[in-house]
Amino acid sequence: MDTEQALSLINSSVRGLSPYHLTAEDCGIKLNQNENPSDWPQEIKREAARFCLDRPWNRYPNFIPESLKTDLANYVGVDAGNVIVGNGSNEMLLVLLLAFASKAKSAVICSPTFTVYKLLYEGTGCRTVTVGLNENLEYDVAAIKKAAQDNPGSILIICSPNNPVGNTISEEDFKSILDVHTGLCILDQAYVEFGGFDGVKLLPRYPNLIITRTFSKAMAGAGLRLGYMIGGSEMIAEINKIKLPYNINFFTEYTASLILNNKEWMKASADFIIEERDQLNTFLSSMPFTNVYKSAANFILVRLGRKKELFEHLKKDSILVRDVSSYYLLDGCLRISIGTKEENAKLRESIGRFFGR
Ligand SMILES: Cc1ncc(COP(=O)(O)O)c(C=O)c1O
Repeated sequence: MDTEQALSLINSSVRGLSPYHLTAEDCGIKLNQNENPSDWPQEIKREAARFCLDRPWNRYPNFIPESLKTDLANYVGVDAGNVIVGNGSNEMLLVLLLAFASKAKSAVICSPTFTVYKLLYEGTGCRTVTVGLNENLEYDVAAIKKAAQDNPGSILIICSPNNPVGNTISEEDFKSILDVHTGLCILDQAYVEFGGFDGVKLLPRYPNLIITRTFSKAMAGAGLRLGYMIGGSEMIAEINKIKLPYNINFFTEYTASLILNNKEWMKASADFIIEERDQLNTFLSSMPFTNVYKSAANFILVRLGRKKELFEHLKKDSILVRDVSSYYLLDGCLRISIGTKEENAKLRESIGRFFGR
């Protein structure tokens, strides 16, 4: 067999995909990945390092990371039986797909939203039905309900706050969608610590609802690769059967609990980001952008005719933002993550200079 023949064995749904790719550009001020700009204090990192030094590496991690699940359940306000943990919330999305997609056959996805949904669902041959946001880049609730009703039993994914726009869905609107949807509903709340309603209280009423969350944003733990899902205990017990064993390594398990036991630091860090975001929004709104979108997350989306020039101008000032102008409805848009106080000040100064202010 030659390589061409071997390649032809790969599912055509996978071969048809464009790879999800992010160029790792070297830049002093990195505002392109919605990371938390603050790193954890040295004493927390030293404690994690001490644990790793003492712990044998030749032994598997815990089969079930019970104490982490308990800490997480306490953080969220549920029981450990309502939680599955994984290698980033991306893994949780994959596990949900493994558990539901072949039966559901189709997925309803809003656009623009987090691109990984479409990649995963199309990659596994699940038909995707796309519902555009409205002209204000808000969720079009009537259109989502219609798509849910036209595709009974489909998987519906809603991201709130939504990446890359920063918009949210209100609790009332979300409930009205759940009232008509007959399939699984995934509510991705990767940015929930920065805004939007907390979906957890809806779980008892809607057993087809699963919420995914992450340590990569407010928890300042993108390097740990830890995400989790929350759902009704019977659903979680079934979904758990398809999750890979030992998907959480001992470093991540121990460090995530350390983080959860330092909630004050985390809360202060999220509060800081919210304050800086709102200040940045006021500043950006005073500049001649075509649009500055209100955000409930740790980034702000802006639109302007000279998008390419602003992107390059910021890059010359060592500031990297995300060009999302190729996304549906986002022509001329850049997404700017919230940085440290100093980084945000440099960003404001650079943007002011760009506009001659
Ligand atoms: C909406 C959304 N969901 C999930 C993720 C992935 O998170 P994780 O790092 O936990 O895989 C991201 C990452 O940017 C995101 O924006």
